[in-house]
Amino acid sequence: MEVLWLSRGDVASLGVTMVEAMAEVERGFRLKGQGKVEMPAKIGVHTRPDCFLHAMPCFVSGEVDVSGLKWVGGYPPNQAKGLPYITGIYCLNDCETGFPLSVMDASWLTALRTGAATGVCARHLAAPGAEVAGMVGLGVQARTSLLALREALPNLRRVQVYDLFPSQTGRFVADQEPLLPGVELVPCLEAEAAVREADVTVTCVPIVTDPKRFIPAAWLKPDALAISVDYDAAYCEDVMAGLFVCDDREQYLWTQEHGVYFRGYPGAEGIYGDMGDLCAGKTPPAREGRRGAVLMGIALDDALVGSLLYRRARERGVGKTLEL
Ligand SMILES: NC(=O)c1ccc[n+]([C@@H]2O[C@H](COP(=O)([O-])OP(=O)(O)OC[C@H]3O[C@@H](n4cnc5c(N)ncnc54)[C@H](O)[C@@H]3O)[C@@H](O)[C@H]2O)c1
Repeated sequence: MEVLWLSRGDVASLGVTMVEAMAEVERGFRLKGQGKVEMPAKIGVHTRPDCFLHAMPCFVSGEVDVSGLKWVGGYPPNQAKGLPYITGIYCLNDCETGFPLSVMDASWLTALRTGAATGVCARHLAAPGAEVAGMVGLGVQARTSLLALREALPNLRRVQVYDLFPSQTGRFVADQEPLLPGVELVPCLEAEAAVREADVTVTCVPIVTDPKRFIPAAWLKPDALAISVDYDAAYCEDVMAGLFVCDDREQYLWTQEHGVYFRGYPGAEGIYGDMGDLCAGKTPPAREGRRGAVLMGIALDDALVGSLLYRRARERGVGKTLEL
């Protein structure tokens, strides 16, 4: 038995684009809406305060027939040590035999599929013609989320950006500007300035067990789409009190019930639909009024994009074959 080991460099070298990742994530959501996905809620251990190691298994049946597991860590103190917040590995399995096919770096995969989910969400919920975005928390996930917003919002012309650390803001603008011709990046000194007047806002700050939520609805346009990539760390409850969407209804409710997250956020009766419902056409897109979306990041996203990376690596002979 052999597995294909794909390092971070291998995975990044495959050149999978955001457009491709968004297509995979959207397909995954659609299959979920059609009842073809087995995906228990993440379970985890917490080795230090506010840190997590999550296990994220998933099986997508039907025409896709993909299964795998991500073992991923998120450690806020890593930033001060110059280390990435998110690290992990992804294991892809053969659905017929259960054999592991590949083990790959999951940090790049996570960033790619997280951004892709933001883009797919914006595609279904942003106002047509949305021109201004606001981003708060300018690390790894914000970078890919912005690339995906660019794909989802053809009229995007201005992005207001804020990070607690101005040096992060400076790095973000310097890295991202060359990738986004025609889009003005506006560094902001306050979170409020970044989200005010924005048609779509995205927050990507560290998830913590006792969040000091700091973005109230009063700062947002009345018809803004507010996307959370960071659970409930940044948006106050009232932001989510209008039309509310999550990426997976069952997992969101399970997490709300069993953990410390999403206190004061909508319960079952307050969910308009999840991304599966929207992408399968069971729930119509909603493009007016206050809209809030919590994208927890689900194992489905990893399975679809991880499988694409594996197939591309096989085609191109990338990676190292190891004996089990
Ligand atoms: N939903 C998903 O699919 C998904 C996937 C991966 C990571 N995440 C979450 O996304 C968040 C960001 O992850 P990352 O990998 O980009 O981390 P990162 O460390 O690369 O970036 C986080 C950024 O937030 C900034 N920040 C911290 N506190 C802030 C505050 N109060 N206001 C503004 N900025 C602040 C930091 O300076 C840093 O630049 C984390 O909460 C992580 O758990 C979500």
